[in-house]
Amino acid sequence: MITPELRESRHGNRICRQIHKLKKGWMLHLCMYLSLILAIAIVATKHSKCSRTMACEDEWIGLRKKCFYFSSDTKNWTASKRFCSSQGSELAHIDTREDMDFLRKHAGTSMHWIGLNRKQGESWKWTNGTIFNPWFEISGNGSFAFLNADGVRSSRGFIDIKWICSKPKF
Ligand SMILES: *[C@@H]1O[C@H](CO)[C@@H](O)[C@H](O)[C@H]1NC(C)=O
Ligand SMILES: *[C@@H]1O[C@H](CO)[C@@H](O)[C@H](O)[C@H]1NC(C)=O
Ligand SMILES: *[C@@H]1O[C@H](CO)[C@@H](O)[C@H](O)[C@H]1NC(C)=O
Repeated sequence: MITPELRESRHGNRICRQIHKLKKGWMLHLCMYLSLILAIAIVATKHSKCSRTMACEDEWIGLRKKCFYFSSDTKNWTASKRFCSSQGSELAHIDTREDMDFLRKHAGTSMHWIGLNRKQGESWKWTNGTIFNPWFEISGNGSFAFLNADGVRSSRGFIDIKWICSKPKF
């Protein structure tokens, strides 16, 4: 038997359910809205991180954590070294096999000075003063190293050839 009270309470329940549904809808909207903001924030962060890792100035080429500059001009070893210093970089330092493959490929047939030299009877040193741990061959009897696609060789530093500078990305 349906008493007026029961009808009243059923009616009340329906209103309650209605309100609940409304609330759910509202929460869903809020949730979607917040997700969207979060998604935009993530994309924006990723994008800025990405453009930061890509950052090498014009004319510099990025490879992993380094930027390299290949000159089109030619100079002797000392003047090339000075040029790189003036750009806040070093005459190319080569730390990995990957660096080496990249530099040789990019240098092509042109000879390019790199940041290794030696004094008579001493070991090869990088321009930062660190002794070269000979993980690649430097052929020839010169005191200044250069490379091209054929590998790394040495000469007296007087000739004017191209050069490569390197610097860390950050
Ligand atoms: C000098 O450069 C070489 C070659 O990039 C590097 O292995 C070495 O850690 C550097 N030394 C210093 C003191 O920065
Ligand atoms: C390097 O010098 C040594 C001895 O002085 C000589 O036998 C050799 O042929 C030279 N190599 C080159 C590539 O000039
Ligand atoms: C290298 O070039 C500079 C500038 O052209 C010159 O002043 C210097 O004497 C040269 N050094 C050597 C060792 O040839």
